Amino acid sequence: MPHLEEHVSLRPFNTFGLDVTARYFARFASAEELRHLLALPPVQAGPLLILGGGSNLLLTQDFAGVVLKNEIKGLEIISEDDDTHTALVRAGAGESWHGMVEYTLDQELSGIENLSLIPGTVGAAPLQNIGAYGAELQDTFERLEALAIGTGELRVFNKEECGFGYRESVFKGPLKGQFVVTAVVLRLHRASGGRPVNVSYGAIQDTLTDLGIEAEPTPRNVSDAVVHIRRSKLPDPAEIGNAGSFFKNPEISQRKFDELKARYPALPGYPVPGGVKVPAGWLIEQAGFKGMRRGPGAGTHGVHERQALVLVNHGGATGQELRELAEEVIRAVGTQFGIELHPEVNIL
Ligand code: FAD
Ligand code: EPU
Repeated sequence: MPHLEEHVSLRPFNTFGLDVTARYFARFASAEELRHLLALPPVQAGPLLILGGGSNLLLTQDFAGVVLKNEIKGLEIISEDDDTHTALVRAGAGESWHGMVEYTLDQELSGIENLSLIPGTVGAAPLQNIGAYGAELQDTFERLEALAIGTGELRVFNKEECGFGYRESVFKGPLKGQFVVTAVVLRLHRASGGRPVNVSYGAIQDTLTDLGIEAEPTPRNVSDAVVHIRRSKLPDPAEIGNAGSFFKNPEISQRKFDELKARYPALPGYPVPGGVKVPAGWLIEQAGFKGMRRGPGAGTHGVHERQALVLVNHGGATGQELRELAEEVIRAVGTQFGIELHPEVNIL
């Protein structure tokens, strides 16, 4: 059974590369190991942080409680349905998300190729219903298994029970901090079933053309295109610390959108039920933050030069400094556009 280590640096375990220390730290590779750890006195005393790949976290100070890192593995096809040309794939929550995408492509299954290269673990994917390039986790989601932190019991949640929304789920809302996701089951399509790939996101079609793929792209082609686009826009955390989009794209009323559009004719917007979604990256760029750097020398942190929605640690920044920069961005966008930005990243 795993044991608790003391005073462990979390630097290798968060993609911002922030050097904060956990009072206690352990890894678990099964529900049994997790139950064992949850019963230990320091874990009972709290606070508790369940860690996946640390790619959606901003750690602003040392963590006084226990950090438990999910390393539950396993990838398998658990059933096939010849009538619907679908298969259920079950993954342990500690598998890497992109590893799962690769596995499904190797098995000639489609459905999550648009979500290629999103960092982090399978188990964190339902937390914010990960999304990119015209797809969201909920499109293929069948069910998940989760362990109740209070009782140690395993519970199954179907799609409705997860309450998915844009970068939302019950696990970020009413059930926050109550469950550890241990496995996820997705329903994917047999490539032989003839289901067309999803190239609704304009940049995918353009990239496929650039890559010389003209007719009938395969799921693998779409994955390659998504990887290509992501590498051109998003900083690689191995080189520049970041947690992807720092803020969510705000949704505003049609009236508010029309008012702003009169003042800023170039303002982009996408209709959503009840209003218009506007790209936060555009607002932040207009507010003058794109590529800006803060801190000594050439700057320790700032806003990415190719994607204004991404805050970056160039090296040596603290979580507190990044949080202050985020607050400054929120204030500036609020003053200029009257729109309140909300962080997507979990700030601790
Ligand atoms: P962590 O950062 O470890 O944890 C995130 C939160 O989930 C924490 O609150 C944690 O306590 C909780 N948690 C983690 N695992 C579990 C579990 N098993 N059970 C219960 N709670 C848990 N996201 C997108 O949606 N779309 C993108 O396109 C995208 N692009 C990104 C690009 C880059 C370069 C980076 C760095 C991040 C990007 N992200 C994107 C954000 C991030 O990759 C996702 O949110 C991812 O799902 C986080 O997984 P993780 O394992 O790293 O979670
Ligand atoms: N834009 C700018 N300047 C910028 C960045 C963006 O003007 O610096 C504008 C442009 O108009 C562009 C539009 O914003 O057309 C959209 O930009 P992009 O396609 O890069 O997507 P995004 O809205 O910035 C969202 C997700 C990403 C996801 C991409 C692709 C959110 C918060 N972010 O970003 O998810 O990968 O779409 O689908 O919804 C993440 O969640 O961490 C993440 C990276």
